[in-house]
Amino acid sequence: MCGIVAYIGKKDAYPIIIKGLKRLEYRGYDSAGVALFNGDLNVYKKKGKVNDLVSFVKGKNLSGNVGIGHTRWATHGEPNDINAHPHTSDDGRLTIIHNGIIENYATLKEALIKEGHTFTSDTDTEVLVHLIGALQDKDNLELEEAVRIALSQVVGAYAIVVLDRNDPTKLVAARKASPLVLGIGQDEFFLASDATPLVGYTSQVVYLNDEEIAVVSNDGTFEIKTIDNEIQTPFIQLLNMNIEKLEKGNYEHFMLKEIYEQPNTIADCMRGRVNAAAGWLKMGGIEEQEERIFNAKRFIMAACGTSWHAALIGEYLFEELARIPVEVEYASELRYRNPIINKDDVVIALSQSGETADTMAALELAKDKGALIYGIVNSVGSSISRITDSGSYIHAGPEIGVASTKAFTGQVTALTLMAIYMGYKRGTIPKSYYHQLLEGLEKIPAKVKEALECDKQVKELAKKFINTNHTLYLGRGYNFPIALEGALKLKEISYIHAEGYPAAEMKHGPIALIDENMPVVVIATNKSAYEKIVSNIQEVKARKGIVIAIVTKGDEEISKIADYTIEIPDTEEPFTPLLSVIPLQLLSYHIALARGCNVDQPRNLAKSVTVE
Ligand code: M6R
Repeated sequence: MCGIVAYIGKKDAYPIIIKGLKRLEYRGYDSAGVALFNGDLNVYKKKGKVNDLVSFVKGKNLSGNVGIGHTRWATHGEPNDINAHPHTSDDGRLTIIHNGIIENYATLKEALIKEGHTFTSDTDTEVLVHLIGALQDKDNLELEEAVRIALSQVVGAYAIVVLDRNDPTKLVAARKASPLVLGIGQDEFFLASDATPLVGYTSQVVYLNDEEIAVVSNDGTFEIKTIDNEIQTPFIQLLNMNIEKLEKGNYEHFMLKEIYEQPNTIADCMRGRVNAAAGWLKMGGIEEQEERIFNAKRFIMAACGTSWHAALIGEYLFEELARIPVEVEYASELRYRNPIINKDDVVIALSQSGETADTMAALELAKDKGALIYGIVNSVGSSISRITDSGSYIHAGPEIGVASTKAFTGQVTALTLMAIYMGYKRGTIPKSYYHQLLEGLEKIPAKVKEALECDKQVKELAKKFINTNHTLYLGRGYNFPIALEGALKLKEISYIHAEGYPAAEMKHGPIALIDENMPVVVIATNKSAYEKIVSNIQEVKARKGIVIAIVTKGDEEISKIADYTIEIPDTEEPFTPLLSVIPLQLLSYHIALARGCNVDQPRNLAKSVTVE
């Protein structure tokens, strides 16, 4: 959470920083701020979105070839102008931007107050800039040395950039457990929470490692050291990202664009991995660690939010197709409950951003316990993708809408490929079924496109539910995690309370909620347990609930009893979630839109949850 951008070079820093902050706004949008140096230091900050900052600074001095900027997701201190970053040291000499949490800020603050420091904000970050300033003043230290010593006293997570008014020829940056990318241009440098602000300026990047400090100067030189003062040889990588992927194009919102991208992103995830005509399916990530993966006694999948729902589908897929026991864990629970993890376990982390703090911590724990760790990640070069022993990128491209859509189907696609690959090799999938699955897989992008054709119908339907306060989502088997995902999508962007349940669990409690005002979305595709789900719909109707059923194309039985039916194409049962989630994504989008909600930037949320 929080996005940081900094620039030093020969160009005007302000437009680069603002453009970068807009690209990072998915990480938080409680307030935004910039500090620019041009003979003097100008700091501007404002509660609200980056555009509020842009309006606020109109007519002000925005010149300078060096600057830092921040977009905030509030942790310590409410979202207001004062708590907005950048923060400054007592004498205004240093300014800092920070993503993360300084956990021991209270102790440090107390000591600094005793030394005579005064604080203006409620943030943990302000403590850090005072501490760096105090160390610098005390022993007349170079900024990088003061930063290094200060960070060795800090407990917590940080990605920071510090600008010194007395030496604006350089910026000092550092990271631990929060991401930071360094972009190297021609006699210029960019620092950012992810690589998107760099696109269009440079394609040479260095992903900083934990406890590394970078000093970048306006003479085109830079140096990376560890917090223990050891000089590092930077690993410069080429960035492969284009501008179209970062813009909305003709769509009104990123979320809608990302929903519509799914036929392509699913195809991209399968590209080079599946060839039905030649009869093969490859997963490089598994091949790299084949022995440990095939000898694993158990798979543990750890994730948060939507990625956790994808993991649940993974459990169904792995157990059915590859006959491997799977446990699915909330990463936040796994990391703190002293779990039993052995050397012959494989722990799979699923994460769109590759930066989720709880997922990272769960992986580190699993690594310490000797398990093989595997990542299913979207964001290339992210922290999770770099600490795993092996993994599979989902190749969905940047996902900017806070509500995850194409990353979810990418994760499910990757899990599906893994399950089929392992099942076939382990002999749990017969050859004929294997070929049927490969052929079925290749048809999925076209079927997702067909499923998207329900958009108009869903838009009309959405109008009927804009004033609803609660919604129930029910599904069985592969469609149970889809019920959870449909409910999460609705609540996070429309603020309507929604719950997902296994359909058969309804009668163990939630049925009490059903009356003529309760919309119940039932994912009732025509495969195993079809009769059971028909009975569940009857039970809802008997209590006058309003049933919106997601059915397989051509289904005639359910349309007779449901109030509304939305059809999706038929497919092999393990691929159903890739299609059944589409109308639910659209439903939440249209309901939220009709309620006037900010679809791409829902309240209180940030896309990348880099704090606990
Ligand atoms: O980047 P990750 O996949 O690790 O993020 C996990 C969750 O924070 C994320 O899926 C969240 O639940 C989304 N907003 C859901 O749409």
